[in-house]
Amino acid sequence: MQLSNDELKIKINELKEKLDVTVVAHFYQRDEVFEMADITGDSLELAMRTQADDAEFVLFCGVGFMGQSVKVLSPEKRVVMPKIACCAMARMIDSLYFDDSVKYLNDNGISNENILPITYINSNADVKAKVGEMGGMVCTSSNAKKIITKALEEGKKILFVPDRCLGQNIANQMGLKSMVIGQEGNPMECDILCYDGFCSVHQLFTVDDIEFYRNKFPGILIATHPECDPAICDASDFVGSTSQLIKYIQEQPEDQKIAVGTEFNMVNRLRPKNTYVLSSTKPECPTMNETTLEDLYVTLKAIDDGEPINEIEVDKQTQKWAKIALERMLAL
Ligand code: 13P
Ligand code: SF4
Repeated sequence: MQLSNDELKIKINELKEKLDVTVVAHFYQRDEVFEMADITGDSLELAMRTQADDAEFVLFCGVGFMGQSVKVLSPEKRVVMPKIACCAMARMIDSLYFDDSVKYLNDNGISNENILPITYINSNADVKAKVGEMGGMVCTSSNAKKIITKALEEGKKILFVPDRCLGQNIANQMGLKSMVIGQEGNPMECDILCYDGFCSVHQLFTVDDIEFYRNKFPGILIATHPECDPAICDASDFVGSTSQLIKYIQEQPEDQKIAVGTEFNMVNRLRPKNTYVLSSTKPECPTMNETTLEDLYVTLKAIDDGEPINEIEVDKQTQKWAKIALERMLAL
């Protein structure tokens, strides 16, 4: 017999009381899952706060690379995920594609000693490990500017993977020259060479959407995530990571209309009035939405039964270098 959401919530709370487990959820999770979490946040906050948490099990409601990052940072923790859903952007690169990107730079006259790789946290542990081994580090959308500023101090070319939009948006904000690998441009003349990956959800926003809202509500503010195309970010009033968007929107007067270009679940719970989703297509992240309340219950029940499911494992060598890449970021 299928349980209702209210029944599931009662059972989940009972199991949470009983077990040594911390439930963690990213802001993009479904509302009913998000409500059950002990720790919520964007990817940077979750990486930092779960590292400091001391429960035996971390039950991570998010996408694969996020649970993996917890395991990499704290290998002694047991990390389980109700759904091992893989972020579409993270899936666009693996260690072989990473090697191809390095080779492209080599073929264009840039030797390995002159490359400093940075990977967006939205990548799997094998890519983070490659980056760590080459002396590079991880960034999130909250700290990308800071990390790139630090990296530039080494006087090297930055290989930025996998999100071309985040790489180009930060380059534009900082007045740096960037190009997308394999597209028009001379790598030798660029500061940041971006891999050609992207988030399909954040590609849904268009300049036409922005014009539509500006015409409909003169004075409206447009706030977008840096995974949106550079043309969208250039036409926005504010560009920021998930937590920066939340802060910006909460600081506006109640009657200020805002159209927000990021994931639907988060925008929907931000503010009861005067907040619009900047798209005629509902921008839901399919993989973030895979996790249901029932999955959460089943995963807790499996821990209680002594047979945890969907446990994250990372091999030792990958864990070692991926951890170094993550820790270089956290140290900043
Ligand atoms: P944040 O780093 O802002 O949490 O973003 C993660 C993500 O997947 C955005 O699409
Ligand atoms: Fe990945 Fe995009 Fe979903 Fe974020 S919104 S988890 S980048 S697919």
